[in-house]
Amino acid sequence: MSSSTVNTRVIGANPTSYRSLNDATAQTSQAFSLVYPATPGGHPIWQIPTPALVVNPHKAVANYQTIQCAFPDAIVGYTVKSNPNPMLLNCLAQVEGSWFEVASRAEIEMLASMGVSGDRVIYSNPIKSQSHIQTAVARGVRLFAFDSEAEVEKLSAFGLPLEVYVRMTVPHTGAQWPLTHKFGVEPAKAVKLLQLARERGLKPVGLAFHVGSQCIRPETWADALRAVAPAWAGAREAGINLDLIDLGGGFPAPYSGPVPGPNDVAQAVYRVLHECVPGAERILLEPGRGVSATTTDMVMEVTGVAERPDGQTWLYLDGGVFSGLYEIPDGIRPAVRPIVAQPRPLAMNTYRLAGPTCDSIDTLFEIRSPMELKVGDRLVLKNCGSYVYAVGSPFNGFPPPEVYDAAEWTLDTDEFPGIC
Ligand SMILES: Cc1ncc(COP(=O)(O)O)c(C=O)c1O
Repeated sequence: MSSSTVNTRVIGANPTSYRSLNDATAQTSQAFSLVYPATPGGHPIWQIPTPALVVNPHKAVANYQTIQCAFPDAIVGYTVKSNPNPMLLNCLAQVEGSWFEVASRAEIEMLASMGVSGDRVIYSNPIKSQSHIQTAVARGVRLFAFDSEAEVEKLSAFGLPLEVYVRMTVPHTGAQWPLTHKFGVEPAKAVKLLQLARERGLKPVGLAFHVGSQCIRPETWADALRAVAPAWAGAREAGINLDLIDLGGGFPAPYSGPVPGPNDVAQAVYRVLHECVPGAERILLEPGRGVSATTTDMVMEVTGVAERPDGQTWLYLDGGVFSGLYEIPDGIRPAVRPIVAQPRPLAMNTYRLAGPTCDSIDTLFEIRSPMELKVGDRLVLKNCGSYVYAVGSPFNGFPPPEVYDAAEWTLDTDEFPGIC
C-alpha cells in the first residue's frame, strides 16, 4: 500500500476490528500468512517521535453526537478531565448544544478561553475549594454538585440561589473502574442535605450519580435510578420538587471488543426514568471515556528486550504508567498492535510490557505477538484517548508523550500484521 493511500484513511474507524487476546491468538496464523507487507518507505509510523499520542478530535465530536442522539432530551456535558486537549475541546465547543463537566478552576478557565461560558458548564466535583467556586460563579456557572454540609456552607457564602444537586452512592456492577467510597451519600442523608441547602438560600434541584467508569452493563444505570428513587420521593415529601437528574458518565470504550453503546444505555434508562424520578425535566449526562477514548492511539518504541529468571521475556518501551497509562495496572486494557521494523518469520511470542522508568510499578500487561519483537520495533496502543493525555509526567526524566494531529499523522495500522 502506498503512503498516499495510507494518508487518506481515518485511524481506528472500525470498532469491530478490536479483538480480544484470545480472538487474536485464534486468528493469527490465518491473518498473517496471507499478507506480510514490508514496511512502506516513509510511513508516518516510523517517523513520528515516540512516545506519541495521535489524536483525531473529530471522533470526539462523532462520539459526543452519538450520545446526544441516544438521549435527545438530555444535556450532555463532556467531562473535561478525561481529555482536556485543546484540539478536542475546541471541536466539542463548536458542537451545537454542547456542554461541559468540570472539576476545577483551571478547567473552567480553559473553556472560557475557548468561548465556552459558564451557562454551558456543570461543576460536578462534589468537593470544591472556595476559590474555585468563586471563579465558577464569576464565570457564570450555576449548577453545582455537593454531598456534604461543609460544601453547603461554601456554596451559600455567595448569597446567590445557585442550583445544587446531591451526589449519591449507587451500584456499580459491570464497571471496570468503579468510583466508589470517595463521593456520594445514601437517600436519607441526601434529603437532609437538600433541606439544608434550601435553608441556606441555595436552590436544591436534583440528584446525581456515577455508575463507575467503563461500565459495560446498561442495566446498572437502571439500578442506579432505582437506588436514588427514595431520595427523590423523600425530597418531594419534604416539599422540595426536584427536576434534575444527573446520570453521570460510565459509557464504555471498545478497548478489546464491542461494548454496549449509548442507545443500549438509553433504553435501560428510559424504561425506568419516569417511574423512579417523576418530574425529572432536566437530564444531565457527563460522559468522559465514551467521548474521548477512541480519539487517540499511542505509539511507543521498543527500547529493550530481556529474559528474566521467571522465564518471562520483558519488552521495555519508551512509554508506560508514568506516560499516563496509569489505569492499565487496574485493568483497563487497550488493544495493542506491534509493528516490526523488518519482515520476520511468523512465530508466536509472549511478552510482558514495561515502561522506561526504573520504578517496578511501571509495568503494563502481557501480550502475545505473532512474531518476535526487537529493539526499534513499535507498538500502537489503540483507544488511549481517556485519562492518559493529562496524566503523563516527566518522572525519572522520561518526557510524557507529545500530541500529534491524526490529520497530519494518520496511522492506519490495519495494514500491518500483529494484532494482540
Ligand atoms: C463526576 C464525574 N463525572 C463524569 C466522569 C466521567 O466518567 P467516564 O469517563 O466514565 O464517562 C467522572 C470520571 O471519573 C467523574 O468523576
